[in-house]
Amino acid sequence: MEQSLVIIKPDGTVRRRVSALVLKALLDQGLKVKAFKEMQVPESVARMHYDVHKDKPFFSWLVNFISSAPVLTMILEADNAIPIIRNTLGATFVQKADPDSLRGKYGIWAGVNIAHASDAPETAAKEIELWTTHGGLSESSDAQEKAQAYIDRYLPGTADFTMEIRDVVRNAIVNHDTSEGVFQRLIDLLGKDADGIPPEQVRNLASAIFDFIVEEVEKAK
Ligand code: RTP
Ligand code: MG
Repeated sequence: MEQSLVIIKPDGTVRRRVSALVLKALLDQGLKVKAFKEMQVPESVARMHYDVHKDKPFFSWLVNFISSAPVLTMILEADNAIPIIRNTLGATFVQKADPDSLRGKYGIWAGVNIAHASDAPETAAKEIELWTTHGGLSESSDAQEKAQAYIDRYLPGTADFTMEIRDVVRNAIVNHDTSEGVFQRLIDLLGKDADGIPPEQVRNLASAIFDFIVEEVEKAK
């Protein structure tokens, strides 16, 4: 049996129904949930989790993004869990992900890509150790039930504003528009299905996405 550390990132979790759709799609692959926790990622844990990327230009942004609002952290288990999950998620960058993959369907833009999943057994072991030691994640016999309860609670309805959010991001980048209006539209759309998420955290996530837009616009100048 193989285990993987999976995180539904803030852009998934804040959009409650999208996170339930992502979680359901993973469980439909036959993966068993060994640990499940909704949490705000402390910056120190985010830094350790993404340590492998510490010299990349996007590191600070990435730490800020993953700790901007709550995430769902989990340990999933199955034979070949790692390739199954990564194939289900699709390519890292949303625009390059297969349209039928989870990132292709629900990812927002580039690295704002709704989920993390361990990329190899050694990485999984390291990440599980990190999140159990420093992230408060622990295996429990009711983890599967907790994940199912999350799905049952948030799946009903039709809320999915992925296309609207993508339009805001795409138009802002194409038109070099970094006005307050763009930021406000992101807050409004991200907040539409953010049941139980404090407005301040929706704003933090919108701010991380807005920072990304500003960087893209700067690069294009
Ligand atoms: P993850 O670790 O989140 O499962 O994603 P991954 O293996 O597919 O991609 P990885 O190369 O490990 O990158 C980790 C996360 O960093 C963000 N990223 N941004 N701006 C950029 O060029 C860039 N490159 C990577 C993404 O959020 C990616 O998932
Ligand atoms: Mg990775």
